[in-house]
Amino acid sequence: MVKICCIGAGYVGGPTMAVIALKCPKIQVVVVDISISRITAWNSDQLPIYEPGLDEVVKQCRGKNLFFSTDVENHVSEADIIFVSVNTPTKNRGLGAGKAPDLTYWESAARMIANVSTSSKIVVEKSTVPVKTAEAVERILTFNSSNISYQILSNPEFLAEGTAIQDLLNPDRVLIGGRETPDGQKAVQALKDVYSHWVPEDRIITTNLWSAELSKLAANAFLAQRISSVNAMSALCEATGADVSQVSNAVGKDTRIGPKFLNASVGFGGSCFQKDILNLIYICECNGLTEVAKYWEQVIKVNDYQKNRFVNRVVSSMFNTVSGKKIAILGYAFKKNTGDTRETPAIDVCKGLLGDKAWLSIYDPQVTEDQIKKDLSMNKFDWDHPVHLQPSNPAAVNQVSIVGDAYEATKDAHGICILTEWDEFKTLDFQKIFDNMKKPAFVFDGRNIVNVKKQREIGFIVYSIGKPLYPWLKDTPAVAKDK
Ligand code: NAI
Repeated sequence: MVKICCIGAGYVGGPTMAVIALKCPKIQVVVVDISISRITAWNSDQLPIYEPGLDEVVKQCRGKNLFFSTDVENHVSEADIIFVSVNTPTKNRGLGAGKAPDLTYWESAARMIANVSTSSKIVVEKSTVPVKTAEAVERILTFNSSNISYQILSNPEFLAEGTAIQDLLNPDRVLIGGRETPDGQKAVQALKDVYSHWVPEDRIITTNLWSAELSKLAANAFLAQRISSVNAMSALCEATGADVSQVSNAVGKDTRIGPKFLNASVGFGGSCFQKDILNLIYICECNGLTEVAKYWEQVIKVNDYQKNRFVNRVVSSMFNTVSGKKIAILGYAFKKNTGDTRETPAIDVCKGLLGDKAWLSIYDPQVTEDQIKKDLSMNKFDWDHPVHLQPSNPAAVNQVSIVGDAYEATKDAHGICILTEWDEFKTLDFQKIFDNMKKPAFVFDGRNIVNVKKQREIGFIVYSIGKPLYPWLKDTPAVAKDK
């Protein structure tokens, strides 16, 4: 029986391995992690991450050919194929601080593999890593063990949170990079054999190692760039009276462009986009490609500009101050159908409003109070470390309350900021909400999900990103300063 071990039971390792176990009943899959609380949760009825469809897949396989364990070394030593899906945070000090990835967790995983292995291994990079990481891992492994052969493969994960299970069951492509030697190609074939249990042959792409590593960074950079492009247009629409939804609809009908990732919003978030672009920028700079680095840097700058512009719009519309005013925050996760808050635009928006002394009442259907308080008191880049190593200072968030539903959040509020596009926000009774708010009552829709016409009929002053501005808002421009 082929044995797979995955190091890192996170948003990628957990769902990916659960689907491999589901589709390959003859393969034994063990997911290991240094975080005891994460593994305990994976073995319970309350999985550590929310992902539609995940519960069912885990329930079907757990205890049969899918296992979660903290006994990292034992399972790694027994495995034939080892996936590494650990954190790859951005460095916050030293060489490359603010851009370069911190490969501490990767390196410690590689050293541990070298220490415990007594048989040949295929080591698969599942984490997103900079180009040439495989080479570094190969060196660590070969310099630290003798008589054991290692093949390193790059198999970046393209799943999107919120649709992870669907993406894994029916991927656009699976990418496998390996050495162009006979042994390297044998290892590529072994991994191909795993995926071909359910992925059609023509969707499994094989490349050299560096192309696979770079393709992942490039794919995320292209996706984020589309969002920054449409968000840049949204600012121009507001200034000129065009409607960004109409513009993106017209643009997206062009089959060369396509309709996806063209929704204007308060900004992109998630653990990957910013980090991967920073990573790309760093690689470009290291290779002397200053203009290329600047090009990608602008994608992040526009994203920061958009979040900043949103906060300024809120404050300027509400008589230039939100000091002491209750603002309801509806939605905190970085997108719907996930409880993940890593790099969510809500963090910057909330911090911006708190900076102007607002009182925040936050509701999100999937995010816990602890998580929100932790996020709002954490320094930039500290979030991407294993949970038990994250610093936290909850005292810094005493103007924030986290509540159990949207009606409680909005009661007696002066304004509402919609920051995640949860479906349930589309069907709220906004008349009831309006009746219970201070007047004038404001809605700032950071995801363009409310019906602007209906809201205005109720009496709200509504701001929707990239839509023609209500006269009130025209008189109070969001003077955005670049960060
Ligand atoms: P995560 O933070 O949810 O999970 C990483 C896990 O690795 C944590 O549970 C941590 O405790 C564990 N870990 C760290 N060092 C370890 C070690 N030495 N031994 C055992 N366990 C260890 O991170 P996530 O989101 O799963 O991401 C993992 C990688 O995949 C990152 O490089 C990320 O950029 C990449 N990725 C993430 C995607 C996403 O949507 N979240 C999509 C595609 C790639």
